[in-house]
Order: sequence, then structure tokens, then C-alpha cells
Amino acid sequence: WPAGAREQAGRIVVGGVDLGELVERFGTPLYVLDEAEFRSRAAAYARALPQDSVRYAAKAFFSPTLARWVREEGLGVDVCSANELALALDAGFEPERIVLHGVAKTHEELETATREHVGRIVIDGFTEIAHLASLAGRHRPYQPQGVYVRVIPGIAVGHHEAVRTGIEDQQFGLSLADGSALDAVTRILGQAHLRLCGLHCHLGSQISTIEPYLTAVDRLTAFLAELHVRHGIQLPELDLGGGQAIGYRPGDASLRPGEFAAAVTARLRERCAEHGLAVPRLVIEPGRSIVGPAGIALYRVLAVKTSAHGIRFAAVDGGMSDNPRPALYHAAYTIRPVAQHGGAPLRPTRVVGRHCEAGDVLAPEAQLPEDLRAGDVLAVPASGAYQLSMSSAYNLVGRPPLVAVRDGLARLIQRRETLADLTSREGAWG
Ligand code: LLP
Repeated sequence: WPAGAREQAGRIVVGGVDLGELVERFGTPLYVLDEAEFRSRAAAYARALPQDSVRYAAKAFFSPTLARWVREEGLGVDVCSANELALALDAGFEPERIVLHGVAKTHEELETATREHVGRIVIDGFTEIAHLASLAGRHRPYQPQGVYVRVIPGIAVGHHEAVRTGIEDQQFGLSLADGSALDAVTRILGQAHLRLCGLHCHLGSQISTIEPYLTAVDRLTAFLAELHVRHGIQLPELDLGGGQAIGYRPGDASLRPGEFAAAVTARLRERCAEHGLAVPRLVIEPGRSIVGPAGIALYRVLAVKTSAHGIRFAAVDGGMSDNPRPALYHAAYTIRPVAQHGGAPLRPTRVVGRHCEAGDVLAPEAQLPEDLRAGDVLAVPASGAYQLSMSSAYNLVGRPPLVAVRDGLARLIQRRETLADLTSREGAWG
């Protein structure tokens, strides 16, 4: 739950607003975002690291309102599509504080990024080096384009195989082990319109211990030392990506910005001293750990039934269309009713979504009151990251609305998706 959430006479109050009242006002399914929680998490990162060292990973969740909060808290932004980039520019981010990622960036994306003077573009393969250099020569001939090389440090971490991007033989980055990263650096140094500002890596997501990051620092500084010897260069920035874990269930470990920054910075200083290198500025790109804990999903139970072998099911009015994470990664959540159930004993309950697949399971074994029935409302905390941002129009259900809460006030920041929204892309020629 967000730090400011309280339980009052059996009701859950977030940002000073009763979740039950929000449901009456906006209906279900509903996503709620605690503005104070979001801002304090962003601010904690901004405090923990030097100026311009934290870039919010827009992929976790981005919208005009969110973009404004991120900018107001002094963070930069990590984008990976033309639309994320356009939204960031519209929200008034200084282009210099934007970093563009992607294993498959389009010509238009690279062109817009160079034309708009985006601060850093992360080189993820050989094909884009000459391409980017020629665009930079055309669009910013007097100011070389700042780039990072994304390297594969060979570290296997993250909550699921699908998010482990620090290992060999997946599509992101260039291998340190086979010399590709070195080759990319050499080619970039030969391009007058590109300026190599540093190295980048992103290990994975929902990483709950500091050790993998320390290992990444060891491997990347060894490579920086190699670049110093071979090319006589010292790179000024080191971007370790995102991945800091949050709690989804009681007892889940999470990484705190202050401790994370202190431990990683100390290791970086130590290794640079050993290699005789100037210490590069540490940059990070947290997404989940800023927006995740600020979000809550609310669903209404529409049916309760028990299977032949005694599994109790509670079917809710949302599901894999607003939260595909359990279906994609078997991601685990805590689920509880928003209203008190007078001390009724808890019973394992499979909370399922409304979609037409047996795989639409939000929680295989939630502990819910014995007397749970249709009409009850369930809350899922830690729902701010990679849920609405990965939502779909499956079964034409329509994406839920998003309400921001703060100081006892609620504000609709995204309305519910309607059938008209869903059919509006279809032309009269159909
Ligand atoms: N930087 C880069 C280059 C990334 O690829 C990512 C996430 C981040 C930063 C932010 O990572 P975070 O701090 O949010 O963990 N859909 C998956 C997570 C995919 C993460 C992809 N990259 C999930 O729902 O668990």
C-alpha cells in the first residue's frame, strides 16, 4: 500500500480518499494513483543521486499527467517509442534530459530524436551506428549526438525469464564476451557526428538485491578500463538501467533509492580507483519502483463458484486485459476486499478475470473471507507499473479509468475506454 494509506473503521483510505467512495463515483474496474506516493518515490531517487542522473522509465506507465509529475520532481525520462518521445517533449522535458532506447528503432524515431536534440540515444546494434551518424550530421551538424553503447554484462536476474536482459543470446545489447561491444565503441569513435558519453546496461526487472548491480559495476568498469588502454578515452557516464524491486506480497524484498545509490556509488568509486579511472556519473532508469506502489486496481466480484474438486473461484469485472502480468509471468499479487467482513475466516480463493480463457487468473490462491460474495469490491495494491501500460482491448471490454488522489481529492486523469474509442480507428471503407 502507498505509505499514506490508512485503514479507518474497516475502510481503506488512500490519499485521503475512501476507496469504496471512489468505486461508487467512478465504477469498476478502476485504477487509482496516489500522487503523493508517486512524487515522494521520484523525489527520493532525485535526492539519492546527483543532478540529471535519474531518468524515469516511461514504459512502466506514462501519460500527460504522469509526465508532468516526473518533470516537476526533477527527473529525466527514458523513452522507447516515437509516441513516448512525443509525449515527453509535449510535457516540456528538456530534450537533453531524454534518453531513447530500443532494439528496433525506426528511421522516424531516430530522425525525430536527432532533430529534437534528445540528450542520449542508446546504441543497441551495429546497423544503427552509421545510420544515426548520418542523421546527426544532417540535423545537428554543429553538435554531435550523445550516445551510450548498451552492453550485455552476462548477469541473469529478474522476476521472470522474459525480463532478463543482462544475459547472452537475447536481443538487447552487445556482448562484452565476444568483443561486439568493443567493436561498436571503435566504430562510434570513428563517427564525427556521434559523441560516446558512456556505457549502458539493463539487467532485468524486479531485482530485489543489490549484488547483481555491484557485479555489473565490476564488469562495466573493467570494460571502461579496457577502453582507456585501447583508445585512451574515459567515459563520463555509466547508466545501469532500472529494475529495482517493489513489494507485491508481504515480506517481498525491495530496494531503497538511498541505499541502492550509496552501495553502487561506493563500488563504482572503488573499482575506478583500482583501474586508475575518473569516476563516471552514475545514471539509472527506474520505472516500476516509482509508479508501481502508487497504483491500486479495484475490481468488483461478479460471480463466486466452487469447482468439482473444491477450488473456490471469484470472478471479477477486469482481468488480463487491464493486467496481463499474471498470465505473462505468473506474477504474484496480494488481494483484499475494500470493506471489512466482520472477522470472517479466510479461505483460499482463485481470483479470475472476465476474459474467455482459463489462463485469465489474477491470483491462484488469494486469502479471501469465507463470506465473499458477488458485489464485493477487491483491491490489488502495487498495481501502478506495467498494468495499464500493457493493457489491451481484449474482448472489447475497454480499458479502466485512472483516478489520481491527493489530499482528500480525486481527479479523473484518464476516462474509461468506450466502444466509440475502440471502433474509432475503423474507416468508412470497411
Ligand atoms: N531501462 C530499460 C532499458 C528497460 O528496458 C527497463 C524495463 C527499465 C529501464 C525499467 O525497469 P524497471 O525499473 O521498471 O524494472 N513488463 C515487465 C517488465 C519489463 C521491463 C522492461 N524494461 C513486467 O511487468 O514485469
